[in-house]
Amino acid sequence: MQREFARLWAELAPIGRCDAGGGYSRFAWNAEDLQLRAWFLAQARARDLTVDTDRNGNQWAWWGTPAPGAVVTGSHLDSVPGGGAFDGPLGVVSAFLAVDDLRSRGVHPTRPLAVLNCVDEEGARFGTACLGSRLLTGVLDPEHARALTDHDGITLAEAMAAAGADPTTLGRDEPALAWIGTFIELHVEQGRALVDLGAPIGVASAIWPHGRWKCSFHGQGNHAGTTALADRRDPMLPFASTVLAARDVAEQAGAVATFGRVRIDPGGTNVIASAVHAWLDSRAPDEDTVAQVVKEITALAEQAGQRHGVEVHVGAESFSPIVTFQEELRDELSVLLDGAPVLPTGAGHDAGVLAACVPSAMLFVRNPTGISHHPAEHAELADCIAGVHALSRVLEHLVSR
Ligand code: GLV
Ligand code: MN
Ligand code: MN
Repeated sequence: MQREFARLWAELAPIGRCDAGGGYSRFAWNAEDLQLRAWFLAQARARDLTVDTDRNGNQWAWWGTPAPGAVVTGSHLDSVPGGGAFDGPLGVVSAFLAVDDLRSRGVHPTRPLAVLNCVDEEGARFGTACLGSRLLTGVLDPEHARALTDHDGITLAEAMAAAGADPTTLGRDEPALAWIGTFIELHVEQGRALVDLGAPIGVASAIWPHGRWKCSFHGQGNHAGTTALADRRDPMLPFASTVLAARDVAEQAGAVATFGRVRIDPGGTNVIASAVHAWLDSRAPDEDTVAQVVKEITALAEQAGQRHGVEVHVGAESFSPIVTFQEELRDELSVLLDGAPVLPTGAGHDAGVLAACVPSAMLFVRNPTGISHHPAEHAELADCIAGVHALSRVLEHLVSR
């Protein structure tokens, strides 16, 4: 199993790797994503699994004939900009290896089993996370999705068409949803709770509600040398104070708030910016807190804008409500996995989106530093193998009932 894990991992390792920093840039429907999709297809074929692509571009590899009540497991292969190797791919690799493990142990499923690769989980290219599962479940309007643009102004519809996929079919996929009896996503832990608990594997209890807001500050572009400070309408100033305010507001509320992406127009060293566009990501244990935090940050941004003659606009781009995984299933899996600890997470997942429609659960694999969305993201090989075995036990349990 260790050799096979290492082999699959080595196949994925070069795809989308950035030269500087060693992280990954694997974005929906780009050349690297297409290589990953081809890799998925090859893995399925090597195992005599039948590949089906649903209306939204999610890839399914079937052991058995697709039918309602199937057990589906998988994750995603795309990454954040400069992301780690494990967030997403660990769940897909583990799913294929769990199929191998079940077969080597002579398990004959009484229901179909599928490995799933959800398209565009991170939303790195088109701004909306979990695009594939949101479209599949119908929580995202297909018309809105088709019109989403990337940094170069390319729409999702154009990107899909250029990749040879059909954007006209996007939308809630009833047959595909009906197939899923239970969905299990294995994922690298994105925090360090399991290290402190001394456990290689955990089971998810909940996902914090979270969302993304685009904050735009419109000022007056001008000359950096000749414009007196008193005459400036510099959007960088209210933006800077909003970043600091967001930290204070989140801290007081027991939430988190992050500005991790900013675009400065036009972005010249000797040019006072015309506009700053920045994306706020905020999360908290409950939805009211997220709403309150964003409201306060918006009010402080507007006040700062007024002080500097800058117009401020804050608009929601996406929101994911709180997810509480089915207690019965979660506890069943924890018992099955010898009392694996049950823990919540602040990270979003396709399993969270699917949980609104079908019974879903998640397994976490210990991450020694807790670092994620960065090249330092890691899980020890022994823990990855423990993850495959845990997933295999869970799948055996589910396909046999
Ligand atoms: C995805 O990993 C997210 O939590 O944004
Ligand atoms: Mn992620
Ligand atoms: Mn992920």
